[in-house]
Amino acid sequence: MGKRVTRKVQVSAPLTAERLRAGWQGPAGTRLLLARPQDAGAADALMGTAGDQVAFDPSLRTAIEDGSAASSMLAGLASEAAYREAAARSFTSLPTDEALASVCLTLVATDARDQVVGVLSGTAPGTVMAMAARHGHNPQRCLALSLFIAKVHGLAVAEHARGQGIASALLERAGQVYEQLGYRLLYGAYEADRDLGAFYARSGYTTLVPGAGFSLGRLGLPFMLRAGADECVFLRWRPRP
Ligand SMILES: CC(C)(COP(=O)(O)OP(=O)(O)OC[C@H]1O[C@@H](n2cnc3c(N)ncnc32)[C@H](O)[C@@H]1OP(=O)(O)O)[C@@H](O)C(=O)NCCC(=O)NCCS
Repeated sequence: MGKRVTRKVQVSAPLTAERLRAGWQGPAGTRLLLARPQDAGAADALMGTAGDQVAFDPSLRTAIEDGSAASSMLAGLASEAAYREAAARSFTSLPTDEALASVCLTLVATDARDQVVGVLSGTAPGTVMAMAARHGHNPQRCLALSLFIAKVHGLAVAEHARGQGIASALLERAGQVYEQLGYRLLYGAYEADRDLGAFYARSGYTTLVPGAGFSLGRLGLPFMLRAGADECVFLRWRPRP
C-alpha cells in the first residue's frame, strides 16, 4: 500500500457540467471525473470489490455506456430549480429506469494511463422509495425522493492504489455535487467486518453500529432506514445553511 497523502479538495466556485466531465486533479496523479462510456466495464468490475453482488444496475451501466447517465444532474448544476426542471422532464418523458439513471452520479478516478483505479456510484435511494410506496406515497412522490436523498451504492479503489486518499477525494467530490444540487441526505451501508467506521467518519459521515437504523422523519417519511444485522449504515445530512 502506498504512502498516505492527505490532499484537501479545494471547494470554491460552483461546479459546472463541463468541470464534472473534464474532472479535477486527484491524489497520487489521478483525475476524478464523471464516468465516461469507456469507463463502464472497468468501473463495474471494481464495484464488485465493494461487497457481495455490488455492481451497476444494468440500466445504469447502459446509460453510462451511451453517455446519458447523470444527464438531469448535469443540466441541474446550473441551479437547484434547473435540476428540478430537468428531472421533471426525465421523470415524465422517459421509462423509469432511464429517468433514474439520469439522477445517478458515477465518478471515477483514473491514473496517468487513463485507467480506472477508483469508482463511486451514487444512486437513487431504492429502498427508501420502496418503503415510501408501502407507506402509501404515490409513484411521483416516491420518484421525487431521488432528488433529495442519494445512496452511496458502491465505493472502491484498486488494491494497488489504496491508502493515498483516492476514496476520500471521490467521496468529497460526490458530496460537493450533491450539495450543489440541493440534496438533504447521503447514506450507504458497508459490511460490518470491513471496519470502515473511521474511514467514513473522517469524511464527515455518521456511522451506525451493525443492524442499527435512523429515522427519516425530518424528510416527512414516517419510517426508519435500517441495515441488515451484519451491515453498518453511514449517513450525512446536509448541513443547515
Ligand atoms: C475502502 C476503500 C474504498 C478505501 O479506499 P482508499 O483510496 O484506500 O481510501 P483512502 O486512501 O481515502 O483512505 C484510506 C483509509 O481508509 C481506511 N480503510 C480502508 N480500508 C480499510 C479496511 N479494510 N479496514 C479498515 N480501514 C480501512 C483506513 O483508515 C485508511 O487510512 P490509512 O491510510 O490512514 O490507513 C478501499 O480500501 C477499497 O476499495 N476497499 C474494497 C471495497 C470496499 O470495501 N468498499 C467500501 C464498501 S462501501
